[in-house]
Amino acid sequence: MRNYILIAILITSIVGCSSDATLTDEEVEKYTEQGKEIAQASFKKLSSQLKSAMKAGGVQNAIGFCNAAALPITDSLSNEHNAIIKRTSLKLRNPQNFPDSLEAKMLDMYQIMSRMRNPVMVPKILVKSESEIQFYAPIMIANETCLKCHGVIGKTMKADDYAIIKQYYPNDKAIDFKLGQFRGMWSITLKR
Ligand code: HEC
Repeated sequence: MRNYILIAILITSIVGCSSDATLTDEEVEKYTEQGKEIAQASFKKLSSQLKSAMKAGGVQNAIGFCNAAALPITDSLSNEHNAIIKRTSLKLRNPQNFPDSLEAKMLDMYQIMSRMRNPVMVPKILVKSESEIQFYAPIMIANETCLKCHGVIGKTMKADDYAIIKQYYPNDKAIDFKLGQFRGMWSITLKR
């Protein structure tokens, strides 16, 4: 319970307004559910394709796949769901996933939260404009597979694999993660 109060205070102080100022409880629930469904469907699509790419040609093949396909997949899912689907992070791999100023604040909020005892890493929504609702949900390093491309070089990630990642992303910052850590965030713009 104390965590919920803390998270509310954090959001209010960081974002500068109440997260659901003009929404009814029903609307908050509806848009939170909608955002969660889209995030889950997107995660499923990305991870199933990632798995096939790894099966077909190992980690190095899958890196090429992520490079070529991650953004087209989220774009086509955006069309399908009539939403704008984005993944972003404080430790970026793909510079195209750069956070806007509000996303950067939410990422900071989740980052602080994730370091607390018993962190409550839950989705949040806010009114972006008259016609748009913004949904955020934390992305965690959920399993060992993530570490093959976001782990510690020479320990959980092979140096050879990282050399390939560096070829695609010379300014990569998305490494040194451990299992269970906060990796980034879904940012989904929903139509009202
Ligand atoms: C085969 C290598 C590989 C694996 C395994 C992998 N990723 Fe990534 N990840 C990438 C690449 C390459 C990108 C950049 C592609 C893009 O989004 O355009 C990326 C981008 C991301 C991003 C977007 C933000 C950014 O930094 O650009 C997030 C979030 C992310 N990965 C989380 C995860 C999680 C969580 C897992 C495990 C479920 C995972 N990744 C597994 C290679 C991988």
